[in-house]
Amino acid sequence: MTTFPETFLWGTATAAYQVEGAWNEDGRGPSIWDTFSHTPGLVAGGDTGDDACDHYHRLEEDLDILAALGVGAYRFSISWPRVQPGGSGPVNAPGLDFYSRLVDGLLARDIAPVATLYHWDLPQELEDAGGWPHRDTARRFAEYARLMGDALGDRVHTWITLNEPWCSGYLGYASGVHAPARTEPAAALAAVHHLNLGHGLAVQALRTTAAAAAQMSVTLNLHHVRGVSERDADAVRRADALANRAFLGPMLEGAYPRDLVADTASVTDWSFVRDGDEAAACQPLDVLGVNYYNPTLVRQWDGSAQRETADGHQDGAASPWIACENVEFVRQPGPYTEMGWNIDETGLTELLLRLHHDHPGLPLMITENGAAFADVVDADGRVRDERRVDYLRRHLTAVTEAMAAGADVRGYFVWSLMDNFEWAHGYAKRFGIVRVDRDTMERTWKDSAHWYREVVATGKLPS
Ligand code: FCB
Repeated sequence: MTTFPETFLWGTATAAYQVEGAWNEDGRGPSIWDTFSHTPGLVAGGDTGDDACDHYHRLEEDLDILAALGVGAYRFSISWPRVQPGGSGPVNAPGLDFYSRLVDGLLARDIAPVATLYHWDLPQELEDAGGWPHRDTARRFAEYARLMGDALGDRVHTWITLNEPWCSGYLGYASGVHAPARTEPAAALAAVHHLNLGHGLAVQALRTTAAAAAQMSVTLNLHHVRGVSERDADAVRRADALANRAFLGPMLEGAYPRDLVADTASVTDWSFVRDGDEAAACQPLDVLGVNYYNPTLVRQWDGSAQRETADGHQDGAASPWIACENVEFVRQPGPYTEMGWNIDETGLTELLLRLHHDHPGLPLMITENGAAFADVVDADGRVRDERRVDYLRRHLTAVTEAMAAGADVRGYFVWSLMDNFEWAHGYAKRFGIVRVDRDTMERTWKDSAHWYREVVATGKLPS
């Protein structure tokens, strides 16, 4: 039987816009996701996060669920426009109070607060001023981080600056399937840079305001890129540069990879990178957050047949894969989750070992892993989501394999605590281990939640 270390941090994760609702209450300003979801045709079913899971009003109930699950940590995100409505200026006290109560409620239940500062909900006012392609947004972000450090820094266990800047940069500004729905490749690369810079400046701001013991982190959705054959090595290199090393380079090594700059030379000259920026982006981190759902398979495209684009992200008006015109994203063999993502936990082991090898000494934490399935509520009210249990078991086993081979993995967070607003897919994709009834907002533990409770309690995977 597989046993995890006693210090292993078990948690679940959510994000503000996906669960909170209360989109225009208590002084919250609009974010780019309000604008996006209120634009007809952009989100499946016309869904919005206006009500989401009503978590804003059901905080105590949700905290009690976390306590009953027995988790040691909870990863949530702070809605920037709730605490600083226009993205600059003073704190909105009622908005901040919500997070203060959340943090206190976690601590009262012995659950470590893991706070993500940016899970994609940029204040609309900052987007109107240019958004992430605009340098000032990085500075605004650092200022917001400082305010949160001042307000919550005595109580937050781990700070995650950004969630998946890959999505913010490329899905938001290149393919446009995420807010703010722009399709401007050069701007997307500028956004990537300002996200990296904002991350570094935010870590600096938090180090001066948060408790000395607080851990600093960032969450990346690194793509574990494989080639169909050895002939595809350059396609792998190119996709890896754009998806992974565009962030790992500046954040962990203080430099953009030369091949990335060369690959994208026809799109931008990277003149938005100023002297000192890469050093500023590279701040010592205590732990690296890794989100993993499935691997990526690529092939060099020779132009003879139609190019496959099965990268797992929705098709937009343009590709998120800037300067990857000769790279095909090949559909992988099943089984698949409801997102159409293939289930392959070996990618997680390999990814963790790569990070262990490339960045020795940097502890890792799985900040998201989980699966959407079309759950059915049985006549007895139970949700027998054995495919989700199987997915989680496989991936946790993969984590133990990486650990056995040397990777220093400190924790694991299931995505997600509850069914929620899955971005452009709306509520149709259910990732929760707790079901949320869309009509009544009633929370029901799925079988996976009961299973996870046992894992957390015993530190072992039940056979
Ligand atoms: C990740 C996001 C998270 C959730 C999962 C399914 O990319 O960080 O908010 O949508 O995917």
